[in-house]
Amino acid sequence: MKRILSGVQATGKLHIGNYLGAMKQWVKWQDKGECIFFIPDLHSLNIRPKPQHLKNETLNNVAWLLACGINPDKSIIYAQSHVSANSELCWILNNYVTMGELNRMTQFKEKSQKRGTTGQLVGLFDYPVLMAADILAYSANIIPVGEDQRQHVELTRDIAERFNNIYGKTFIVPEAAIGDIGSRVMNLADPENKMSKSDNNQNGNVLLFDKPETIKSKIARAVTDSGSTIEASDNKPAITNLLQIYAGFSDRNVKEIEKKYANKGYKEFKTNLADLVADKISELQKKFEKNRKNQEILKKILEKGAQKANIIASKKLVQVKERIGLI
Ligand code: ADP
Ligand code: TRP
Repeated sequence: MKRILSGVQATGKLHIGNYLGAMKQWVKWQDKGECIFFIPDLHSLNIRPKPQHLKNETLNNVAWLLACGINPDKSIIYAQSHVSANSELCWILNNYVTMGELNRMTQFKEKSQKRGTTGQLVGLFDYPVLMAADILAYSANIIPVGEDQRQHVELTRDIAERFNNIYGKTFIVPEAAIGDIGSRVMNLADPENKMSKSDNNQNGNVLLFDKPETIKSKIARAVTDSGSTIEASDNKPAITNLLQIYAGFSDRNVKEIEKKYANKGYKEFKTNLADLVADKISELQKKFEKNRKNQEILKKILEKGAQKANIIASKKLVQVKERIGLI
């Protein structure tokens, strides 16, 4: 049986890129193996969130996972900080990765550049090693993520292979699973850049918390390319992005949608897309509101998840410690 594992950060502003690229994909994996979905709250510390905000967002994220269709009876849902094995393994793995490798991580380059001097934290630099520990401690085979996380999963593979070569087979070498549709949703106001929680240009991000009117107006204002045909191509990044979003929300393929709009204008296409996205997000929001009301149930889910996660990860940690000579 394959083990599937992934996480989404709890710093607020979940957007349709997180939904299409990650959470929606995860739901499908629930029938294909043993799933673990977690809230990487320790990763979120690198932006030094306000304590109350982090607490609130962690529970929000659990409620969103449930709203999107993650079933706590099928999947383990836990908070990273509730299982100390992840952090302990991170410290050990720090000795099997170089500064050069971490320096080459594009996410670190982008985020640290954007944040300037306040972004030069060791926690941000070391982030991919904690991510490797999150994966390797659970012997996960498949990591469903958006395109931006591919490089981190590649680094995890390198670390696992390096460790296995020295000490004998200890870790499963995982594989990234990146969906065909919605794995890189771009900012609607700036389609050369991906939609991101940390982006300054929030006007181009459609958030899961946005009201239907806001979603509709963001899509109406989305930049388009020159020309008027509704076709995906490399020189039409804006319309390609909108087609991908349409495909992701309608579960149809891009070719079908191009055909449907072959002789139609941008306006009709955008209006239909806006209705489609706003309706789906309203539906998710209703489920979210219902789940979020019962804070005790959400905490119970995390507690039960942490118990199960702890059993898996601490076993692996014992094996690793033995291998490297910690007594
Ligand atoms: P962000 O980049 O917005 O801070 P995270 O880093 O928390 O988001 O990513 C959580 C998950 O969502 C990851 O699997 C990531 O690959 C996916 N993801 C993030 N942004 C996008 C996007 N624009 N398109 C598709 N998937 C995305
Ligand atoms: N770094 C991931 C992100 O920001 C979140 C994450 C942390 C993760 N640890 C992970 C995803 C392990 C998959 C597996 O999107």
